[in-house]
Amino acid sequence: MHDHVERVLIDRSAIADRVGALARQIAQDMAPPVGTHAEVTLVSVMTGSVVFLADLIRHLPLLLRVRLLTVSSYPGKATQSQGPRVEGLPPEDLAGHHVLVVDDILDSGKTLELVCQTIRRQNPASLRTCVLLKKQVPRQGGIEADYFGFEIPDDFVVGYGLDFDGRYRNLPDIVTLKRQVLA
Ligand code: IMP
Ligand code: MG
Repeated sequence: MHDHVERVLIDRSAIADRVGALARQIAQDMAPPVGTHAEVTLVSVMTGSVVFLADLIRHLPLLLRVRLLTVSSYPGKATQSQGPRVEGLPPEDLAGHHVLVVDDILDSGKTLELVCQTIRRQNPASLRTCVLLKKQVPRQGGIEADYFGFEIPDDFVVGYGLDFDGRYRNLPDIVTLKRQVLA
């Protein structure tokens, strides 16, 4: 697997530092007002955000719940989005809750747009978004994330949860793959 890697874009220690800093910022912004017991519900977009979610929540000293939402847009060996689709049932207990959407990467913005639309139907008390990575590309309808970890060039990346054809999610760094692997 490691001989498939072209280049390490962001290494594990840089990721760990940035996830800690992101969590501190989120915890500060989303902490309930003193004397109240408001909790936060993280809606994690499967499967790419699974590693980020696991690290992020352990740095969030808040009362929180985790919900999962599966969206797929890259069937098989595609490296261009084929349009996102929600698979299975979205979480149904978000009304009146403070929701934070967690995703791996913001590219065209179609996925985040679809996820936010799906969640808004349930009238959450508030809705914020957090992505680990965002690509430097024009965004559908100008959608941006409230929180992001790193801005990256428009390259296809894998590792730390992100996949190519279901593989490489277990690489601890964020990397690009050799051209012949993607072909
Ligand atoms: P968008 O809908 O174009 O913003 O794409 C977002 C989704 O596509 C993310 O949730 C990822 O699952 C996937 N994605 C986008 N770019 C990459 C990439 O470079 N590597 C792996 N997955 C990606
Ligand atoms: Mg995704």
